[in-house]
Amino acid sequence: MKSGDRVDLGKGHEMEFVSAPNLHWPDTIFSYDRKTQTLFTCDAFGMHYCSDSTFDDNMEAIEADFRFYYDCLMGPNARSLLNAMKKMGELGKITTVANGHGPLLHHNLDALRECYQNWSQKQTKAETVVALFYVFNYGYSDRLAHAVAQGVQKTGVGVEVVDLTTAEIHEIQELAGRSAGIIIGMPPSANAAAQAGISSLLAVAKNKQSVGIFECFGGDDEPIDTLSRRFIDLGVKEAFPAVRIKETPTPATYQLLEEAGTDLGQSIVRDRNIKHIKSLDVNMEKALGRISNGLYIITTKKDDINGAMLASWVSQASLQPLGFTVAVAKDRAIDSLMQEGDRFVLNVLEEGNYQELKKHFLKRLLPGADRFEGIKTQTAKNDCPILTDALAYLECEVVSSMECSDHWILYCTVQDGRVSKPNSVTAVRHRKVGNYY
Ligand SMILES: Cc1cc2nc3c(=O)[nH]c(=O)nc-3n(C[C@H](O)[C@H](O)[C@H](O)COP(=O)(O)O)c2cc1C
Repeated sequence: MKSGDRVDLGKGHEMEFVSAPNLHWPDTIFSYDRKTQTLFTCDAFGMHYCSDSTFDDNMEAIEADFRFYYDCLMGPNARSLLNAMKKMGELGKITTVANGHGPLLHHNLDALRECYQNWSQKQTKAETVVALFYVFNYGYSDRLAHAVAQGVQKTGVGVEVVDLTTAEIHEIQELAGRSAGIIIGMPPSANAAAQAGISSLLAVAKNKQSVGIFECFGGDDEPIDTLSRRFIDLGVKEAFPAVRIKETPTPATYQLLEEAGTDLGQSIVRDRNIKHIKSLDVNMEKALGRISNGLYIITTKKDDINGAMLASWVSQASLQPLGFTVAVAKDRAIDSLMQEGDRFVLNVLEEGNYQELKKHFLKRLLPGADRFEGIKTQTAKNDCPILTDALAYLECEVVSSMECSDHWILYCTVQDGRVSKPNSVTAVRHRKVGNYY
């Protein structure tokens, strides 16, 4: 089918096809049934959410999953999404979006369409963009690329994805030319179009750009070292060590790629953020710095992936049930392990006895490294690690989240807890300025 083609299915149902490329696949097509005013959108407008409802009758229940799915799968294609939504607007009345995943959108369709529109506009306006090139339908490229894209987007940098086999050379070069970073998922070595695409990238790569390369585990990946060396010879900065994938990807592999993407994004925005912090009003900063908090280490485990983070922006928030909030920066590695429903442990650090733990958990590690190496732990009932040397611990669950500019405020409830040293007190963080933790 081509865009504009129609097929008569009988009984007044005539399907009209609308090309909506790159909405997770290069060849995505929407189909519209005018009689029922239903638009079938494949992956677009979906969510990984399952309940007994056929429709989106409970907006509150689906909101977070709708957003998470957008961020992971649609955000990197925001430009294509805006084009597709423009074509949707020209089709006529749509009362139901029959997506390929999750409840069909009907009761809250206008609000959910508006979300897609706003998020995509914000995404395409991101002043800094990273270009992500790979062959969509090769090996595990798709999931791996989305993990790395998600990691980049956590830092506020936009991502635009391009399929190396279907894109025109001038499109590849135009995107690479205006991008602060280039990420490549290795294509199959026998794919001539992809080879030509990569050669064209090497021709335009500039020495101020950050580059990251990963294998796609397709069985016939182009050798990663040769390409890596060619970029280094051009003077381009390697944002993360080339990711080699020797076994079938696991959740840990996707986590590693997400962290690699975040490293690349952070390397791009670091200078800009430092400049911004320096420009804040000094008196205001000092006054804000008088807000003090305790010192804690959050520890998690999900699908055999461990995570940990030193936190001080923690505050009790409810009595029944017992609950507190914690602010987690959007570009933290731990973010993907702290989604609604996820469990973790809040370890309370002890005054006069926290430096070693603090130092250990602040160390910058390479993507995928074990954050608990050399640290004494026990296992909590919720399966997360408890730090043996902490003053107290709480077993917790993330209940809801609120987006606050560069942080997520997570509201969490407490299921269990214990103090190991009843006569000790919590370490407190007294700051001079409020522009850092
Ligand atoms: C004293 C102190 C308190 C911190 N508190 C928080 C916090 O409440 N929330 C947060 O997102 N990061 C906080 N951070 C920053 C993270 O602990 C730290 O940057 C992070 O562990 C780096 O890990 P990542 O590579 O996973 O992002 C704090 C850092 C310090 C030094």
